[in-house]
Amino acid sequence: MSAEDQQQPRPSWQLMTATTQYQVSMAPEANGLVLDHWGPPAAAFPWTPPSQYHFQTPADVAPLEYSALGTKQTHGAELIIETEDGRIGARMSMTGSPELVDDGRIARLSTTLINETGQVSVTAVTETCRDHDVVRRWVIIRNVSDVGTVRLTRAFSAGWPLPIGPGARLGCLAGAWCQEFTPNTVQLPAGEFSIGSRQGVTSHTYAPVLVLSAIDPGPSTAAYGVALAWSGSWRMLADAVPAADHVRVAGGLEDETLEITLDPGESFSTPEMLGTFSTDGPEGVARNWHRYQRDVLARDVGPHHRPIVYNSWYATGFDVTVDHQARLAGAAADLGAEVFVLDDGWFRERNDDHAGLGDWTPDPIKFPDGLGPLITAVSQQGMRFGLWIEPESVNPDSDLFRRHPDWVYHIGARPLVTVRNQYVLDLGRPDVWDWMAATLREVLADHRISYLKWDMNRPISDGGRSEDRHGREWSVQHTRGYYRLLQLLRTEFPHVTVEACSAGGGRIDNAVLGLCDVVWASDETGPRDRLAIQHGYLSAYPAHAMSSWVTDEPDQLDPEPASFEFRFVTAMAGVLGIGSDLLQWDDDRRLRAGEMIDLYRSVRSVIHTGTVARHGEPADAWYAVEYATDQTVVILTYARASRPDHVVIVPRLVDPGVSYRIRGRETTISGTAARVRGVEVYFELAPDADVVIMDVVASAP
Ligand code: GLA
Repeated sequence: MSAEDQQQPRPSWQLMTATTQYQVSMAPEANGLVLDHWGPPAAAFPWTPPSQYHFQTPADVAPLEYSALGTKQTHGAELIIETEDGRIGARMSMTGSPELVDDGRIARLSTTLINETGQVSVTAVTETCRDHDVVRRWVIIRNVSDVGTVRLTRAFSAGWPLPIGPGARLGCLAGAWCQEFTPNTVQLPAGEFSIGSRQGVTSHTYAPVLVLSAIDPGPSTAAYGVALAWSGSWRMLADAVPAADHVRVAGGLEDETLEITLDPGESFSTPEMLGTFSTDGPEGVARNWHRYQRDVLARDVGPHHRPIVYNSWYATGFDVTVDHQARLAGAAADLGAEVFVLDDGWFRERNDDHAGLGDWTPDPIKFPDGLGPLITAVSQQGMRFGLWIEPESVNPDSDLFRRHPDWVYHIGARPLVTVRNQYVLDLGRPDVWDWMAATLREVLADHRISYLKWDMNRPISDGGRSEDRHGREWSVQHTRGYYRLLQLLRTEFPHVTVEACSAGGGRIDNAVLGLCDVVWASDETGPRDRLAIQHGYLSAYPAHAMSSWVTDEPDQLDPEPASFEFRFVTAMAGVLGIGSDLLQWDDDRRLRAGEMIDLYRSVRSVIHTGTVARHGEPADAWYAVEYATDQTVVILTYARASRPDHVVIVPRLVDPGVSYRIRGRETTISGTAARVRGVEVYFELAPDADVVIMDVVASAP
């Protein structure tokens, strides 16, 4: 590039979100877009290339948003293309100018690049909306030639050169079964940090979410959040290139085993990668996510699709009988439950986890007249009826497997691996998908079934059909098959509420949040553990979808005692449900539970639609979660045995312009005073839990 070229003003494009500006310009070499600015609205200039390159190529130095190996020569790239002539990589260049369509609310920028032979085109799309602060990105890769196959051994969704370097402070959510969403922070002065799933599902191990800020932020409280809207195998990475002022964050489909084959004329669209910026650090990032998930992803946030559930799993396990379930349903209705969900154990031969998965008809011994009598009993109690199902799995001991042993994921004659005594059905096969769709239609034929807990209890192994040209896309096919089934439910059974579950929180992400109503964050219901899991969950995912149940003590994993009320206040932090054996409760306990459910009902719209702030950590002497709408602020407070007599919480979400009355107290307090002096919590509800509710009474004088 000549000095003269460098002085030419390069065109740039601005896309606005609710409170931020996202600006890109054409890279000096016209080999992609570079990120100029992402933050509060500002007069930003196109990125300036250095005057000299020391032992680097321009493409490796530029903060390119999306590039292929071969365009970048030595640094990480988002796309790896192999063509039939044995070439690896592609030298991409822009075809014409990016196209910006902006209707004043939604702005979409599409940029098309083409490789040096003209065989592969890549259209990178960036979309923003002025209603929220999330930037959505994806790419469409096309084989535009008439001859020759193209293989993609990496097809990430996006890359973001974030201006926080050198180095980054990274927050991620890691875990395992019953320990999902454990927050971790890593300082990355240099090097690559990578998280992902090879499990065919989102996984308990890592959530596809990162929060990033500068290692040495100075006075800045800025943070970026990046997330994948994907429920299959995936990878996200942060690359802190030494001496660079940006950190490259990239991600998309898992790139160890995946290979996408594009025959002439074929194209592939990646999943979406989402990003957000906040001047309020990780808490602001969490709020941006919540707003997007509530306003854009959820079909609604009213109580109908997030009802108070009674689920019988923790009470009865596989031992379900019509009579016993009907009695539980009666007790649940008396308390105020709105749906009765019959969990595992209702279908043929399902007396433990060794048999039955795949044979989705009621067990004739347990339900001699089908599910009808129980559904009637539940309906007569004024509750909706729900059912557990795990359509993607099959036990070796099932009629389905005996009929179709070839339907499960397998690699040739390699011995199959069971997890929880089950295999996974290959949802990439059209016959399997058709069977699953037919099964769902059959199960839901009784329209009184209006709630489905869709489970998936094992990671997928042995994926990949060697005889199929597209066999190495199995994880993509499986995930898209799952989405199409969820869409079928939305279209054909819109009255059915769907709760996503995967051995607890193994498949929770921004795609599932768009297709399911609530998610089961963990199988761990021990209240202290649960609180920790919910604390992590709320840093990336919303309260309106967080299903949480009160269950009986003792918990298998969490020995720390907690009051009955503590359990309710924990479950209240999202979508409250009950899983206890209600027939063992005495009258006092039922009365108290009824009161707690009434309390939850009085605040649930605030919890499901309000802004969230978390105070401290669940392991502290006290911890609180605050929710606020324009009219009400709710503070759920939790304490350990070591707590002081009372605690003073300084609410962060009160409006300084108004006054509040605290329910149950005589006095009012202005928002300003609350922000300065704080609000006392006296633990009147229980020694270890309390709920403070502040209603707006007037504009502050
Ligand atoms: C998984 C789920 C549980 C329960 C069982 C039933 O573990 O996470 O909630 O439904 O399966 O087998």
